[in-house]
Amino acid sequence: MKITVTTHSLEEAQKLAKDWLASLPQKTDEATIVGLYGNLGSGKTTFTQSVARELGINSAVTSPTFVIEKLYETTHPYFARLIHIDAYRLESGRELQTLNFEDLVDNPNNLILIEWPENVKEILPENHLKILCEFVDENSRKFEIL
Ligand SMILES: Nc1ncnc2c1ncn2[C@@H]1O[C@H](COP(=O)(O)OP(=O)(O)OP(=O)(O)O)[C@@H](O)[C@H]1O
Ligand SMILES: [Mg+2]
Repeated sequence: MKITVTTHSLEEAQKLAKDWLASLPQKTDEATIVGLYGNLGSGKTTFTQSVARELGINSAVTSPTFVIEKLYETTHPYFARLIHIDAYRLESGRELQTLNFEDLVDNPNNLILIEWPENVKEILPENHLKILCEFVDENSRKFEIL
């Protein structure tokens, strides 16, 4: 799905996350890797939390800025695990390799969402999915899904 959507509330953003998740192919050779691009406060963590809710994750999904990577078991029939990575504090993809990133990529049932993907671009597959998040005003965000 290649679209641009402006949401005007958290509820609208939740609906977008739900529709986006439903649009993902559920037959992949490897993990589904998604780069969440956008400035501070543009809604990357919140989008991840919305996806987590749709995947049936009940535990709180908090920003992994200090731990870099968090794994959650889901109740989804295909995406059995959500991996939330915040590369804000990383300087290169090598630092992700030490967190077994390649093993995570090998599993087609993993859905991997990465904030600040430009910091680890050397190890991301060129064809990873991209979502560009943009602050519009306090309650509104623009999402470009590529
Ligand atoms: N889609 C949205 N609609 C309305 N408000 C939002 C939306 N997404 C996020 N917000 C609000 O914006 C603030 C920052 O959001 P969030 O933490 O998701 O940004 P971020 O892109 O992850 O930032 P960072 O780069 O610091 O990790 C939060 O207070 C959140 O409630
Ligand atoms: Mg964040």
